[in-house]
Amino acid sequence: MAPLDPRLVRRSRGVRRLLGTSVLLGVGTAATVVAVAHLVADVVARRFDADAIGLLPVAVLAGLGLRAAIAWAHTAVAARAAASVKAELRHELVDDLMDPRRLGPRPSSAGVVTLLGPGLDAFDGYVGRFLPQIVLSALVPPAIVVAIGLADPLSAVIVGVTLPLTVVFLVLVGLVTKDRIDRRWQALERVGRHFAEVLDGLVVLKVLGRRQEEGLRQIGDRHRRESGRALRLAFLSSFVLDLFSTLAVALVAVSVGLRVVEGHLDLAPALFVLLLAPEAFAPVKRLGSLFHDSTEGAEATAAVLALLEHDRHVGTLAAPDLTTSELVLDGVVVRHDGRSAPSLALSHHRVRPGEFVAVTGESGSGKSTMLSLLMAFERPSAGYVLVGDVDLAAIDPVAWRDQVAWVPQVPGLVGGTIEQNVRLGDADSSVGDVLAALRDAGAGDLALDRTIDESGDDVSAGERRRIAIARALLRIRRGRARLLLLDEPTAGLDAGREATVLSTLRTLPVTVVVVAHRPETIAAADRELRLARRLVTA
Ligand SMILES: Nc1ncnc2c1ncn2[C@@H]1O[C@H](COP(=O)(O)OP(=O)(O)O)[C@@H](O)[C@H]1O
Ligand SMILES: [Mg+2]
Repeated sequence: MAPLDPRLVRRSRGVRRLLGTSVLLGVGTAATVVAVAHLVADVVARRFDADAIGLLPVAVLAGLGLRAAIAWAHTAVAARAAASVKAELRHELVDDLMDPRRLGPRPSSAGVVTLLGPGLDAFDGYVGRFLPQIVLSALVPPAIVVAIGLADPLSAVIVGVTLPLTVVFLVLVGLVTKDRIDRRWQALERVGRHFAEVLDGLVVLKVLGRRQEEGLRQIGDRHRRESGRALRLAFLSSFVLDLFSTLAVALVAVSVGLRVVEGHLDLAPALFVLLLAPEAFAPVKRLGSLFHDSTEGAEATAAVLALLEHDRHVGTLAAPDLTTSELVLDGVVVRHDGRSAPSLALSHHRVRPGEFVAVTGESGSGKSTMLSLLMAFERPSAGYVLVGDVDLAAIDPVAWRDQVAWVPQVPGLVGGTIEQNVRLGDADSSVGDVLAALRDAGAGDLALDRTIDESGDDVSAGERRRIAIARALLRIRRGRARLLLLDEPTAGLDAGREATVLSTLRTLPVTVVVVAHRPETIAAADRELRLARRLVTA
């Protein structure tokens, strides 16, 4: 894990600005540290020789004040930068997730929630403290070594040799901790995921009870243990760093002291060197102590970048008219990361305009994947989806989806009335259209003004489906959609309502592709497309 991912610098203006400001303030810090050491050494040496010191103490105070002001400004700037980078990335992530051209794996919602919440909050430590300290550690120590060298070359050699050793030690600690950090991050993510699952299935868990509680406790324990290990390592490494730098400073002190006693070195440069030597180590030591604070932020950065870096739809062509164009699936294979077997494999298949096709196959044979492909939510790993003779990948996905009505396996609802939920299909439709759509979806019994809440917990699975079907039918009734895709739409519907839906589907003037496992649906269709696991018989 690099301390600073160059991709983050490229992507985030806030980070770039912070690094720039840090360089300026770092130069200021180095200059004031050297100046104050010089002034203090001067004052002491003059007092020693009983010379006048004049206004020098005031200059020392001013220098110390300036240094404190710079440190304060740096903290303030960095804290503000951390907040703005967090906001920037949160916006970007949300925009990206909503981007209709987004391709690639859909992240787990628990993963996204963990990342957008505690994950990015780790940027307070990472961007707010660690990154500015990296800049200070790169600028201040070399400047101080040079200043020491001007006063006493031998001391500069001692510091110049031991300082890089400390840095090497820091890097070693970083390498050792890498695994630990990965594990801790995974443990945190697992806690988040598990907790989300537990909340989702609270009712089921109340029945199944204890064993889940046990599971949650174990996962929590693991996170606690991993955090404990990381902390131990942090304490140990900062102890070793302290020891190291103390020894190096002692070495400088002994060599300078002996030479002052023997008269080879004046008091003023000796004091100057002695005051500066610890300052050369201070930024690196602080970097070491911040390192453990920063690791979660670095992990979160990696996770954010992994989420943001994916393929995009590049298609720009207008969608061909589906009332005359065939849909052709030609040698289509869909593979998903981390799976050896393809999720869908079709040899050659065509759907003619106006046809009503039932897609069947055992669970996991790729039925939902096929719909997702037709929605242009993903792209085939091999082969083509053609609309007429145009590759779907070359078509503008927004224009394409405008022609499609879609009823997913678990339809989404928004908080509001049933009317509002149906009207999502077409905002300009009249109440009459909405009512007719509901009737055709076997949902004539649902009151238009009944409110449902965002979670949709107050509607049954069957009601949810019928609302979604009505929404899709509204789009068709309004002449917008020419292709209807449905994923197991009649699951959970009683026989009467199922019959209503099926007879509606039969009379629709559009192409219908329905994923089905109920014999009634298959019987209603013109044709069955049976998916086998990995191979197709069409
Ligand atoms: N995004 C994905 N990442 C990994 N595997 C996936 C993904 N989507 C689907 N799969 C896998 O592809 C196979 C087919 O899935 P799916 O199309 O949902 O099947 P069906 O709808 O026929 O039950 C399954 O083994 C499933 O686990
Ligand atoms: Mg499915």
